[in-house]
Amino acid sequence: MFNQEYSMSRGKVIVTGGCGYIGSHTVVELIQNEFEVVVFDDLSNSKEFILDRIEEITSVKPLFEKVDLSNPIEADIVYKKHADAHSIINFAAFKAVGESVRKPILYYKNNLYTLINSIEAQKKYNIKNFIFSSSATVYGSPDILPITEKLQTKRAFSPYGNSKRIAEEILEDFAKAYSDFKTISLRYFNPIGAHESGLIGELPNGIPNNLLPYVTQCAAGVLKELQVFGDDYDTKDGTPIRDYIHVVDLAKAHVKAVERLVSGNMKDKYEVYNLGTGKGFTVLDIIKTFEKVTKRKINYKIAPRREGDVLALYASAEKAKNSLDWEAKLSLENMIETSWNWEKLYRGI
Ligand code: UFG
Repeated sequence: MFNQEYSMSRGKVIVTGGCGYIGSHTVVELIQNEFEVVVFDDLSNSKEFILDRIEEITSVKPLFEKVDLSNPIEADIVYKKHADAHSIINFAAFKAVGESVRKPILYYKNNLYTLINSIEAQKKYNIKNFIFSSSATVYGSPDILPITEKLQTKRAFSPYGNSKRIAEEILEDFAKAYSDFKTISLRYFNPIGAHESGLIGELPNGIPNNLLPYVTQCAAGVLKELQVFGDDYDTKDGTPIRDYIHVVDLAKAHVKAVERLVSGNMKDKYEVYNLGTGKGFTVLDIIKTFEKVTKRKINYKIAPRREGDVLALYASAEKAKNSLDWEAKLSLENMIETSWNWEKLYRGI
């Protein structure tokens, strides 16, 4: 029988880690851009109800496979089943920087086995395109700002960060060896914010490591006090500078990356892009903006510097603008408002 829904699809995209924070927002954008999506996730750091929320937003429930991709047998089964996909977006990874320092084997094993099993299956089942979720952490502590993609990557401070750098090198070698396949690595700066519906957002496991979820949980009364890690950096107020980017803007960049891969217009078979706004804000800027936007006070105190933190990181977003036809559009106020809206709805405040 003629299946109208299927005939309108722009083809199937596999999203590993699609129930997670950036993954779920990307699934929404892909569906809204008429791609058919299948999510592979082991639910180790995400919840299955996110699939229902995605359906609430888009009216389409993505296909779902619960699978541990670090296991080669399990990975092969699901990739074989979905070998009709044209692209893989690989979000599935552990991401807690501090935990990775304490448990390096766990991080290298999970993040790199998952990647290797995925590209092995990609080759075996001839899935042409691959997008890797990388991080600005591959630049280490840069001497030149804003950061362009030409800057030499450095050994990252944490095994988490280093797993991203090693993964990029593996992908570059893969692209060199197999001319039929194309890869894009996307280097995220600091993703915050949530979908405007408040139905999906960041769901940290236990006490958050990142600034924004810590701030929203303080405002919600779940946590008592925010520690600001150091006020003696060489910045306007002594706190470090980061390039905070809205997760919905970030998700849209993945759609652009899929379109570029599918179009056949790639200059190189392996390309990297920074995903940031190009603007830097300090930790105190974030706290002040949060207080202004939400009219809630944040209880904070200055604490010692956190090991591994760098003074300042912000992107040159030019390459993504020129070649991906993408730029970040949403404001810091919108990032903070949607993060807070998500926290409130999630906690029923
Ligand atoms: N910070 C605090 N208190 C907190 C948490 C964070 O003061 O409780 C500060 C940090 O010192 C830093 C800023 O807020 O100056 C941002 O910290 P995050 O932990 O939110 O983000 P990072 O910049 O340290 O790390 C993020 C991602 C990593 C990624 C890195 C790349 O979490 O996955 O960006 O730059 F590798």
